[in-house]
Amino acid sequence: MARKTPPDLRSQRWFGRGPLSFGHRSRTLQNGYSLEEFSDKPVIAIVNTWSDLNTCHGHLRILAEAVKRGVWQAGGFPVELPAMSLGEIMVKPTTMLYRNLLAMDTEELLRSHPVDGAVLLGGCDKTTPALLMGAISMDLPAVFVPAGFMLHGSWRGERLGSGVDAWKYGPELAAGNISMEDWLEIEEGSARTVGTCNTMGTASTMTAIAEALGLTLPGVSSLAAVDSALRRSAAATDRRVVEMVWEDLTPSAILSIDAFANAATVNFALGGSTNAVIHLLALAGRAGVEIDLAWMDDIARRVPVLANVEPSGEYLMEDFGEAGGLPALMGELRELMHLGCRTVAGQTLEELLEGLRVSNHDVIHSLEDPVAEQALAVLQGNLAPNGCVIKPSAATGRLLQHRGRAVVFDDRVDFEARINDPELDVDEDCILVMRNCGPIGGPGMPEWGMLPLPLKLVRRGVRDMVRISDARMSGTSFGTVVLHVSPEAYVGGPLGLVRDGDEIEIDVPGRKIHLHVKEAELAKRRERWKPPTPKTGRGYGLLFAEHVGQADRGCDFEFLRSGPQPPEPAIHV
Ligand code: FES
Repeated sequence: MARKTPPDLRSQRWFGRGPLSFGHRSRTLQNGYSLEEFSDKPVIAIVNTWSDLNTCHGHLRILAEAVKRGVWQAGGFPVELPAMSLGEIMVKPTTMLYRNLLAMDTEELLRSHPVDGAVLLGGCDKTTPALLMGAISMDLPAVFVPAGFMLHGSWRGERLGSGVDAWKYGPELAAGNISMEDWLEIEEGSARTVGTCNTMGTASTMTAIAEALGLTLPGVSSLAAVDSALRRSAAATDRRVVEMVWEDLTPSAILSIDAFANAATVNFALGGSTNAVIHLLALAGRAGVEIDLAWMDDIARRVPVLANVEPSGEYLMEDFGEAGGLPALMGELRELMHLGCRTVAGQTLEELLEGLRVSNHDVIHSLEDPVAEQALAVLQGNLAPNGCVIKPSAATGRLLQHRGRAVVFDDRVDFEARINDPELDVDEDCILVMRNCGPIGGPGMPEWGMLPLPLKLVRRGVRDMVRISDARMSGTSFGTVVLHVSPEAYVGGPLGLVRDGDEIEIDVPGRKIHLHVKEAELAKRRERWKPPTPKTGRGYGLLFAEHVGQADRGCDFEFLRSGPQPPEPAIHV
């Protein structure tokens, strides 16, 4: 494709129409810029998801300045456009309810403004997939710059990993093995700097996936938020995005099915978050690439876990970066990757991986000596006709083939009301079932799937049980937890038919999940099942409930999956 010239720039529809551009140009001059600064230059949108309540993104305004520096140096015109910020910790009931809204925000910000290319600043769990989904749909040249992870936490000489150690010490507090003072010290020591979670949770998984898809500069997903290399990379990214505008290198030219296979391979080798499965399905849906859970399972069977990083391993993201980070891990995976894939760097993956080496094989293992066999298994059966997932690398081996008596909770409120009832008829061989926590039932499919165990069992030393739900779980969670049961109970999925005392069997090696109840009995229960009252009758909640897809489709709005581009906005004067 021929290089673009200034008259070809999309932004020229606003700025390049002589006297008809009066309003657009005079108002840019109003901002203190002179004509020479923005005329005939690629306008680069810096989509910034900074907010005071998204502490993972607390430094993004500083990072945006580095981005602007790079754009100016390369002869572009940077403009910062704030987008919705989804801080995982503060946004309730769950950021997943708003992932699609941020994706729409991103797409429409880019569509409605005079921009030629975009730099996407994000990192906390849902911001990465949301920004990418919006940019893929708009299909302007775009590069993602991750927020970077926080440094490791610390308590009495022990390193603390985000999320993972809260999950670990929570039961110890409940069992009386640590005091409230200990707990408060852990709270103080766990998040020492800005940045995203320092474990291989959803944030680190998704930023690595962005890199494996070819949508970042190499190595950037393995940098800490406070590392000056991140700002240098941000500036370099933005010099590059200006060039991408002239080359017209758009996401659709990068995102082949091979790029998605690379992303899935990396996800499993990282022992990445189960949430990534949903986000990858959604991203592929935007890119018009056909993948499904069976495709994902097929790759997962071939890719062992190589990253020895919590929650599947022992180390933290700082160690991972120092061991060579994602490029070094991809080098180990070379024989499983599609090396001809293009990236935003303008080089193929093969060229980028040339000569890269792991510097610590205890942190990044080799294919011959993996950390664990598998990071994901997709189960199917009469309890999950459209599938569900489990993370075997973070589960208890002996529970991966298990049959047990169901103890059923109708929703999270019911769960919290009864789980610690001393009279609850439960033992460690039971299977805890929670329903009505899926995309519509949650709503937004909250990360409630790693159900806390009954206190009376925790006190007896039980630390894992099989748990099944239509919810998700945090990427920092662990345990024998079956998630994303599809279709969800709220829309009539079979999870809604389970009763206390029913036998459920999971067989992870056999990829099966089965409710041992005769079909005739299930048919009777199905007849008696009544759809619950909708959770809301107005606003975004209603839009979400009416259009969100199930987990096996990536929970995107069906009307946002790939399709013909809307026309460019009309400009009349
Ligand atoms: Fe933001 Fe974990 S809470 S990345």
